[in-house]
Amino acid sequence: MTDQKIYRASTTAPVNIAVIKYWGKRDAKLNLPTNSSLSVTLAQNDLRTHTTASCSAKYPAEDVLVLNGAPQDVTGARTQACFRELRALRKDLESKDSSLPPLSSYPLKIVSENNFPTAAGLASSAAGFAALVRAIANLYELPSNPTDLSRIARQGSGSACRSLFGGYAAWEMGTKDDGSDSVAYEVAPASHWPEMRACILVVSAEKKGVSSTTGMQTTVATSTLFAERARDTVPKRMKEMTEAIQKKDFEAFARLTMKDSNSFHATCLDTEPPIFYLNDVSRAAITAVNAINQAAGKIIAAYTFDAGPNAVVYYLQKDEKEVAGAFKALLESKDGWAGERGAAVEVNSTGAANFDEKS
Ligand code: ADP
Ligand code: DP6
Ligand code: CO
Repeated sequence: MTDQKIYRASTTAPVNIAVIKYWGKRDAKLNLPTNSSLSVTLAQNDLRTHTTASCSAKYPAEDVLVLNGAPQDVTGARTQACFRELRALRKDLESKDSSLPPLSSYPLKIVSENNFPTAAGLASSAAGFAALVRAIANLYELPSNPTDLSRIARQGSGSACRSLFGGYAAWEMGTKDDGSDSVAYEVAPASHWPEMRACILVVSAEKKGVSSTTGMQTTVATSTLFAERARDTVPKRMKEMTEAIQKKDFEAFARLTMKDSNSFHATCLDTEPPIFYLNDVSRAAITAVNAINQAAGKIIAAYTFDAGPNAVVYYLQKDEKEVAGAFKALLESKDGWAGERGAAVEVNSTGAANFDEKS
């Protein structure tokens, strides 16, 4: 008799917002980057993806992915790579223990919800693929660690590899052609610098006009600024940023964060045709952060923008009033300002993707 059971596992994964940006692939198939990158993983209970992976012999033959209630195309190479790698690991377990049900041969159904705008430059692909990989790994009861999962999640979306770690995480670009050394690692746990806060400013919840994948491919192909950024600028900044985090030097952290966001958006502008992720409200947010820092007489706030108009402002808890408060007041009157204002989130303190349920 066929196995009638539905096997199921759920997990959540938080977004991570890079302070040294990933932008450029040296291998688009394996998602290998042209530079290393570094991010802060936000709190689990704020911007996050919740994903349930299930499989059953009685499911229709095709794998299914439902995102925010809408069925998605799962035939893309990225999703397929994640399914294939996870199934291979499960198959390996099954070949060693014949008492295990053959889940690797059952169709998969993935149901995922983002509690924040999807494809709007708030790292939905990062939380999304981290949760997808982690949920299937749990379903398959794989003995995998975050490093192994990051290697798989990277193939879904590059930035996803960093969301498998909490706190301060880096993605080492690696040197091998097979991508085996292109994985994420923890630079420091959130507990190392727990005063860090992030204020998310939702300028627009609209889907971006140019996806990250397409945008970075065009930048690599056409921008002359880009080569210098990948070769010289970022490697130097990776060292400086790691040191700033280790020393808990907020001024250095903030300066590097803003410079790197500006440098990334400069390469977008230098792309042919140019890519404009920032809009007038984003630029008003930059001016507001500069005004806050000027008023304080030192750097207490740092803006950064991913591939979209929405701002993330990092600051320390002790400066909450000056930063989050001033931000709200300064931007309240701007046109084009939608969504939540000045929500402060704590950086993740519990480790990423770790709210698991199984049945
Ligand atoms: P973002 O800035 O939000 O990361 P991207 O252009 O990098 O935008 O990627 C958006 C794409 O990521 C979506 O169109 C979708 O294909 C994928 N994605 C987003 N959330 C999820 C999720 N929860 N599960 C699976 N895939 C997701
Ligand atoms: C600007 O990871 O979304 O957010 O690998 O093609 O899925 P793909 O791209 P993605 O790119 C993220 C770009 C960024 C910077 C960053 O998160 O490091
Ligand atoms: Co993305």
